[in-house]
Amino acid sequence: MNLESPVNSGLIIRRMIHADLEQVIAIDQVSFTLPWPQRSFRYELDENFVSRCWVAEADGRVAAMLVGWMMVDEMHIATIATHPEYRGRGIGKKILVHALCTARDKEGLVRAFLEVREHNDIALSMYRSLGFVEDGRRKEYYKDNNEDAILMTLNDLGHLQGD
Ligand SMILES: CC(C)(COP(=O)(O)OP(=O)(O)OC[C@H]1O[C@@H](n2cnc3c(N)ncnc32)[C@H](O)[C@@H]1OP(=O)(O)O)[C@@H](O)C(=O)NCCC(=O)NCCS
Repeated sequence: MNLESPVNSGLIIRRMIHADLEQVIAIDQVSFTLPWPQRSFRYELDENFVSRCWVAEADGRVAAMLVGWMMVDEMHIATIATHPEYRGRGIGKKILVHALCTARDKEGLVRAFLEVREHNDIALSMYRSLGFVEDGRRKEYYKDNNEDAILMTLNDLGHLQGD
């Protein structure tokens, strides 16, 4: 499997490796009020056979990360974040599209779903722009501020174009 592909000027999207973990954890911690326990990312890499872990590399650094859980023909986007210094440059969208297209083309992915905070307007906008639609809500799902989770699903991956 080709795990590495250049997507635009200097940006590389590739599978996550152990050497990325420190930067991945740093991105997680700066991006979320409820970051994952640090050991979780090592577990995803080493032990969770349904995990598909990706990073986007720019300037020799990890600029974004994504973990998806592949279950038969569905992918649950478990986490996605772009380093604050690299936001708004299209990297979040590219790593998500790349992960989805790779799973579609190599593993038969037909559907993707995720949860997102109801007030996370940027993430909601990113998902909607890719065709994700809201199909549910979990009341007071996030325990730090009792924010609702919006459930979103993408049923048609045919229109997505990877690089
Ligand atoms: C959500 C997140 C991953 C987006 O990453 P990013 O690399 O900045 O995203 P992109 O530059 O690829 O932009 C993707 C889309 O997000 C939306 N977006 C990005 N920046 C935005 C802004 N400042 N205002 C409004 N919408 C914005 C747009 O829809 C954009 O698509 P478009 O450029 O085609 O209009 C990033 O903001 C992040 O890491 N946030 C913190 C962690 C998080 O909330 N993760 C999602 C959990 S569900």
